[in-house]
Amino acid sequence: MSREINILGIETSCDETAAAVVANGRNIKSSIVASQARLHAEFGGVVPEIASRAHIAFIYPVIVEALARAGVGKDQIGAIAVANRPGLVVALMVGLTAAKTLAFAWELPLIGVNHVHAHLQSAIMEQEGLELPAVALIVSGGHTNLYLCASPLDLTLIGSTVDDAAGEAFDKVATILQLGYPGGPVIEKTARSGNPKAVDFPRSMLDRESLDFSFSGVKTAVLYHCRGQDMKGQDRVASMTPQEIADIAASFQAAVVDVLVAKARRAAERHEAKTVLLGGGVAANTALRNALQGMCDRTGRRLLVAPKPLCTDNAAMVASLAYYKYLAGDFADLDLEARATS
Ligand code: KG4
Ligand code: ZN
Repeated sequence: MSREINILGIETSCDETAAAVVANGRNIKSSIVASQARLHAEFGGVVPEIASRAHIAFIYPVIVEALARAGVGKDQIGAIAVANRPGLVVALMVGLTAAKTLAFAWELPLIGVNHVHAHLQSAIMEQEGLELPAVALIVSGGHTNLYLCASPLDLTLIGSTVDDAAGEAFDKVATILQLGYPGGPVIEKTARSGNPKAVDFPRSMLDRESLDFSFSGVKTAVLYHCRGQDMKGQDRVASMTPQEIADIAASFQAAVVDVLVAKARRAAERHEAKTVLLGGGVAANTALRNALQGMCDRTGRRLLVAPKPLCTDNAAMVASLAYYKYLAGDFADLDLEARATS
């Protein structure tokens, strides 16, 4: 039997402080996530300064708990992995500093991971018989990316958003509808009692060949719908019935889902992919999961979706991707930097 490699993963790219221990890239021994959503709710979005301070407060107890739950000490850890890009630099820096400190003190290799690439691991790490190449759709608060995936480490970006990310659009529309933050879960819940055909919001496909996305148009259409075309009208949201709000939420969600599924299909057909992968915070959305499953069923493809607890930011996905870097000997130096972009 091959040796078990435990990797301690750390993730602080946005507003979740997370640590996890994963064996051989597949077996999640612990996954601890401290969400800061409550701290940012009153601002309707993530405030970098608040995120950074909260990461500093949470990082030590979160790492201690991840090790304790996994039942491993430093002698059973093979490497320290950390998401060092892309994300809020002041947030990434906290996890990165913790990871470097542990790597130095415990004399362990350090592995830097792209957090958006790591989202893909959430869809595949617990699955058997993955057929590659696959087309991967990663939809989060900061990114809407389509990749051609030849292996966990071999990802080619084939489409991305030209403006807002899908999750960002959910968050902004939730603010317009005065539903709170984070927007994705609350829009999904509100949409359950709404009619997705009530309002015909635009589906921006860009040109016929494009695999890129644009979500600012649908967000603006929701705003106009609520405030009138000239934006001079009274904000009608406060006087809308719960049914009207639900109809707008459902119609908006349907517009976003339609575009995501159409582009995923276009990419899968162009690249003759037998497998479609779905990950990132917005992948928790049941309407999206169901619509993508329907497309895959109709076109003879296998869909692998991240389990819901692994859709939003977590460190298990970071430790999982790092395992492949570990096998490839792709280690970072202690001068590894945090980066806002990929
Ligand atoms: O991947 P993630 O945790 O963080 C980033 O890397 O951005 O994604 C967070 C995003 C937020 O925009 C949130 O509103 C969205 O994922 N989200 C959802 C759902 N749950 C989270 N969007 C739609 N439906 C959901 N159920
Ligand atoms: Zn993320």
